[in-house]
Amino acid sequence: MKVVNFGSINIDHVYRVEHFVRPGETLRSDDYKVFSGGKGANQSIALAHAGIQVVHAGKIGKDGVWLKHKLERIGVDTDLIETAEAPTGHAIIQVNKDGENAIIIHGGANESIVDDDIQSVLDSCEVGDCLLLQNEINGVDKILIEAKKRGVRVIFNPAPVTEAVKRYPLDSVDTFIINVVEGEMLTAEKEPKKIIASMQTRYPMSKIVLTLGKEGVIYADSEHLLSKKSLDVDVVDTTGAGDTFIGYFLASLINGEEIEKCLEMGVRASAICVTRRGAADSIPKKEEINM
Ligand code: RIB
Repeated sequence: MKVVNFGSINIDHVYRVEHFVRPGETLRSDDYKVFSGGKGANQSIALAHAGIQVVHAGKIGKDGVWLKHKLERIGVDTDLIETAEAPTGHAIIQVNKDGENAIIIHGGANESIVDDDIQSVLDSCEVGDCLLLQNEINGVDKILIEAKKRGVRVIFNPAPVTEAVKRYPLDSVDTFIINVVEGEMLTAEKEPKKIIASMQTRYPMSKIVLTLGKEGVIYADSEHLLSKKSLDVDVVDTTGAGDTFIGYFLASLINGEEIEKCLEMGVRASAICVTRRGAADSIPKKEEINM
């Protein structure tokens, strides 16, 4: 069983700032670095580090070939990554002194997915495979329709969330992995417990994972309602923490672990991620996680 992750690949431009820039303000940054990123690619890297066979599908520009090579070195299958005319997607990321981030993304090549790409990626899914999706590429609604037709198990992380996500055919999603912002957009509820309840009413067959940042995570399905607290660590940079959680949680789920253990793996991996700078580069390897 493998994961096919149809998702973004970004070049992250990361600026360390005293505070997030305000309207009309010109702000000097203390430090600037370029990292590899993209919610999709980060999640593929976390899965590969966790020992799962993962095929990443997506698009880069000619300026992003180094990102493809990096994924290959880490053990991600990159046969379904194509080079487009558009430049590679990128992110402008401010990280403040508390390690929080504010991110602007530009889709670039991530948004040049055409119907033929969707067909070939879905054709590569075999019975029992998982299709992992985020919301940083175009065509996610079409991908969901094709996945439903073929009975593919979909894990959906609707980030970054937009109004349009509410109109996606979400009824066939096996597992939603959302944060409070995404949960509020999908349900119009603000309280975590109400978000969970509303998601369960709307999507009774789905599993719901609601991440709460430093408050931890809640998991719900028709039989379980579980929560797990985050670990107390010195936070340097939270970028990629959600992606790390997703990769490690999903890896444990695929390996048939109990939900409790899946949540624990995700929480431990993301606790290590936030103590390091950058997104993809801060994702720990399996042997770094003490279980
Ligand atoms: O989740 C973190 C990621 O969001 C960054 O790597 C950035 O590229 C944006 O996609």
